[in-house]
Amino acid sequence: MKRRTALKKLGLGMASMPFLSFSGKDQVVHWDRGYGLEYTSDEEYWKQFKKAYYAVSEDFINLENGYFGIHPKSVHDAYLSNIKKVNTLGSNYMRNDFFPELAQIVQSLETFSGVEEGELLITRNATEALNVIIQGLRLEKGDEVLLSRHDYGSMIEIFEMLEQEEGIVLKIVPVPFDPKDDQEVIDAYMSQVTPKTKCALLTHMMHLTGQILPVAKIARALKAEGVEVVADAAHSYAHVDFNIPDLEVDFLGANLHKWFSSPLGAGLLYVKKDRISDLRALYGDSRLPKDDIRRLGHYGTPATPVVMTIPIALQFNKDITVPVKEARLRHLNQYWTQQARSIPKVIMNTPVDPNRSCAIASFGIEGIKSGDLVKRLYDEYGVFTVAASLEGRQVTRVTPGLYSLQTDFDRLLEGIQAIAKKA
Ligand SMILES: Cc1ncc(COP(=O)(O)O)c(C=O)c1O
Repeated sequence: MKRRTALKKLGLGMASMPFLSFSGKDQVVHWDRGYGLEYTSDEEYWKQFKKAYYAVSEDFINLENGYFGIHPKSVHDAYLSNIKKVNTLGSNYMRNDFFPELAQIVQSLETFSGVEEGELLITRNATEALNVIIQGLRLEKGDEVLLSRHDYGSMIEIFEMLEQEEGIVLKIVPVPFDPKDDQEVIDAYMSQVTPKTKCALLTHMMHLTGQILPVAKIARALKAEGVEVVADAAHSYAHVDFNIPDLEVDFLGANLHKWFSSPLGAGLLYVKKDRISDLRALYGDSRLPKDDIRRLGHYGTPATPVVMTIPIALQFNKDITVPVKEARLRHLNQYWTQQARSIPKVIMNTPVDPNRSCAIASFGIEGIKSGDLVKRLYDEYGVFTVAASLEGRQVTRVTPGLYSLQTDFDRLLEGIQAIAKKA
């Protein structure tokens, strides 16, 4: 079936695009039903929530919310008016108002993240934050670093560049796809530690499998061996409930444009206060004191309207709360993965234990390349996912957003069933 036909069958397409009631200038979403864990599996509640908060395309079912998070209407409206404000006031705003506002925004993020004043910087994304950290650590020839093939490609590339240019040594940790307990994961990391191990990258939530690592426990074991631990929280920040210090790492990079719901182009760099002076700045700075985190953020004029919109996204997170987001996203994940696991020829890449993943999960079907599977799900069922491969496994990654409904997964499962049957 061609995609258009499939969309027609779904009753989707431009003609069925619902009236989008943007809240206009006041940037207020009208929602009086409250928020709470009691609504986690209440589909009627989430249907209304979607209507109130989101204006997503109804042309297809978007189960690829891992790339970035479609932000709610309140954030979208604020973003548009901030673009207008900057472009109306010009550098008068930048020279007089923006930087005091930025300081307040950073402070509010510090409070939200549970860190001390002066430990956070806003970056353009997690990649930038993690480059500042990893390249700032002054790794030298012969230093060994621990990473896994499950980590994000751009982070692996930082270490590969340092391998080529500085002569550091990469040790690949065999992260289990479906660990039976935390100890198995800790052991996998510790098995690669030698007296030369200087640094380890721990991805809190893996982008291709959705696996959540017990970062604090691994970090504790590694730090006892004198290893610097860097956490990649690109996917976990504002997705699962934690304060940055809970992870027990000194260095962390995160995204605001994934689960925090800011506009595209915002991330976070965290460095524990007493470690700031240990990093060499990636972007030249000769003025600020060595223990001032802003020394690490000399990367020029920011995407100002994006940064100005962060408080509205923060308010959204405070209203709904991260535990409620986490519970709903995990519910959706479990709704489809539990059914998919029992379909013959389906191979799940995500741990069985519900607490070892949240929104993200991935799978393959025996005998089908993930690229072909993703195309068929889209063309024949109107379901948008993304394809990859990992350590020889086929990966079709499925990631709901907060606007996703169980019926979206019914359609996905219909596709998986039919495709697997004929495979
Ligand atoms: C685990 C992980 N780390 C880092 C990144 C990089 O994020 P960005 O491209 O926004 O810097 C991603 C992006 O998907 C990711 O999944």
